[in-house]
Amino acid sequence: MTEYTRNQRIPRWSLLILPLLIFPLVVLTGAGFPETASADHAYVGVDGCKMCHRSEAKGNQFGKWEGSLHAKAFETLGSDQAKQIATDKGLGNPQEAAECLTCHTSGQGSEHAATWKAEDGVGCESCHGGGADYNKFPIMRDHDQSVANGMLTPDEETCLKCHNDTSPTFSGFDFEEMAPKIAHPDPTKG
Ligand code: HEC
Ligand code: HEC
Ligand code: HEC
Ligand code: HEC
Repeated sequence: MTEYTRNQRIPRWSLLILPLLIFPLVVLTGAGFPETASADHAYVGVDGCKMCHRSEAKGNQFGKWEGSLHAKAFETLGSDQAKQIATDKGLGNPQEAAECLTCHTSGQGSEHAATWKAEDGVGCESCHGGGADYNKFPIMRDHDQSVANGMLTPDEETCLKCHNDTSPTFSGFDFEEMAPKIAHPDPTKG
């Protein structure tokens, strides 16, 4: 029978090497870090939300959005004014320019499911986060699970990502004045 000494069981170098191996793994996988808005959840487009959010009794969020300028934001990039702005900036077709699409559509640079369309403009997920992982009934009915799967509760900061002076037509943004114009509360909630 061999008697192992402490140094033979745990070679001293491993005490240094192990943390060096584990640290990059933790960083690469994001393990141990809280879920943030930047965590990538694929975008499904408004067609992945409307079937459950168009009842009048619960506030018809889809209908309210559909009647807002957010729903027209991609179409707006086809206007003569948009083409002029793009030309002045040395860009081609604004409906194909990443510099414009980033604020006039949802989830630029992210993964998109088959239901996503640029034509949706500023869709639900521009404010509520990519929905592919939370737009299922058992998850949606549970606030904490929805949040854990990427759902965001938007606030003023959310708006300022687009409503700021890097927008070529920016003329100021007053949250208190603008928020009621796009509000879509559920009247059955407090
Ligand atoms: C399968 C049906 C279904 C789909 C699809 C769906 N939802 Fe929901 N959603 C629900 C239900 C049910 C609730 C909970 C409503 C309640 O409590 O009365 C909810 C709640 C919400 C809430 C409030 C959550 C909270 O806890 O604050 C938001 C925001 C929301 N949905 C956004 C979306 C968005 C954006 C999409 C598309 C990406 C979507 N939903 C797709 C069924 C759905
Ligand atoms: C992804 C970018 C984006 C986000 C996020 C965003 N918006 Fe917008 N918003 C736009 C664009 C683009 C338009 C212009 C659409 C058009 O005219 O075609 C617009 C237009 C509007 C309008 C209509 C302007 C008017 O003069 O009537 C209101 C109101 C508005 N947004 C409010 C908000 C609020 C409130 C928030 C945050 C809760 C918000 N927006 C978040 C991009 C965004
Ligand atoms: C930082 C986000 C952002 C970027 C980038 C952006 N837009 Fe917009 N755009 C908005 C918002 C928000 C509005 C609505 C309020 C405003 O004008 O600021 C808007 C409104 C517009 C309007 C309607 C203006 C009106 O008075 O009705 C046009 C046209 C437009 N944008 C064209 C463009 C073009 C072309 C590009 C690319 C060169 C572009 N936008 C890039 C956020 C942006
Ligand atoms: C411009 C940003 C924006 C867009 C686009 C948007 N929402 Fe919202 N949504 C909000 C804000 C802000 C709230 C209020 C959050 C809070 O509770 O403070 C909200 C709340 C909600 C709620 C909770 C209502 C309640 O009273 O419990 C639901 C459900 C919802 N949104 C669904 C949708 C759906 C579905 C779409 C697309 C058809 C959509 N939203 C598009 C900003 C947005």
